Amino acid sequence: MRQLLDEAAKGGYGVGAFNVNDMEQIQAIMAAAKQTKSPVIVQASRGARAFAEDLYLFKLIQAAAELNPEIPIAMHQDHGNSFETCKSAIELGYTSVMMDGSLKEDGKTPASFEENVAVTKRVVDFAHERGVTVEGEIGVLGGVEDGHGAGGSGLEHVTNPDQAVEFAELTGVDALAIAIGTSHGAYKFSKKPDGSVLKMDVLIAIHKRLPNTHLVMHGSSSVPKDLQDIINKYGGKLKETWGVPVEEIQLGIRNGVRKVNVDTDNRLAMTGAIRKVLWESPEKFDPRDYLKPAREAMQKVVAQRMTQFGQAGHAGDYKAVSIAAIAKGYKDGSLSTKPLVAAK
Ligand code: G3H
Ligand code: 13P
Ligand code: ZN
Repeated sequence: MRQLLDEAAKGGYGVGAFNVNDMEQIQAIMAAAKQTKSPVIVQASRGARAFAEDLYLFKLIQAAAELNPEIPIAMHQDHGNSFETCKSAIELGYTSVMMDGSLKEDGKTPASFEENVAVTKRVVDFAHERGVTVEGEIGVLGGVEDGHGAGGSGLEHVTNPDQAVEFAELTGVDALAIAIGTSHGAYKFSKKPDGSVLKMDVLIAIHKRLPNTHLVMHGSSSVPKDLQDIINKYGGKLKETWGVPVEEIQLGIRNGVRKVNVDTDNRLAMTGAIRKVLWESPEKFDPRDYLKPAREAMQKVVAQRMTQFGQAGHAGDYKAVSIAAIAKGYKDGSLSTKPLVAAK
């Protein structure tokens, strides 16, 4: 993933990191990557690894890489909650891990700065020796809906730029997730977010201090109204809600954001497509009758995001470097783990 993000920084674009749990989602992402000629990050949460079983999921993503040799693809552990989770992902063959030490191992309780630094640094040392990229997180996302986040509105633990600098210096992470008021899931904001709830000013301040650090935006689904409407039209009961507008993500990308995490929009797209088939044709019972439209609906959303994030058209810019070469780069210092820090 380090190579994908370094290339994205050179090209001034962002790379979507899309969550997967099953074959249809992996196929949807790869079809979108092929369609738009995009490099891509495929990521699995702990929940996804448990749902699909490690080996099934790993082999599916490996198949995606083998079938699409022209697409640079990183396989990433999303929200690792401990050293052991990250280690097991690395041992399976993931090329990138997130150590989310902003929360304790329960994935709910905010951890201290010192605890976060210690566990993240331990993962960085283990991962870099093996050529694997590490994303860390400083500050805490809101919401507890899907088990990641400290609860609350998302504004209680917005990242402090000075702490972000210190964290990047002490850990040597390759990518830094920051908290700017977003949360996971569909219910992020009760109206179109403005600067009082979505702290793009904090992101810009962090980028000013850490101009070469790859920033990561979590909770970046836009929760589009048309996807909400399809679900509700066909018997769903979503409450009115707002996500992160794409133009705010694009502002982030102009200010150092290189990885953009999206899961919920794809969940909405698939669910809407499945509901539509079952509502309109209640006599159908072959899973392919609804999984195919679901996969197509997800492909459409992913392709749209790839275009909006700017990664479209960049798949052929470079050839993937081997994990061994990346490990060597960390060892000999040609791949820097010391952030450039600008004065206040
Ligand atoms: O981090 C949040 C992602 O949407 C993954 O969610 O833990 O329900 O798989 P999950
Ligand atoms: P969304 O719930 O906004 O899609 O966020 C996904 C995410 O951040 C995964 O880590
Ligand atoms: Zn996340």
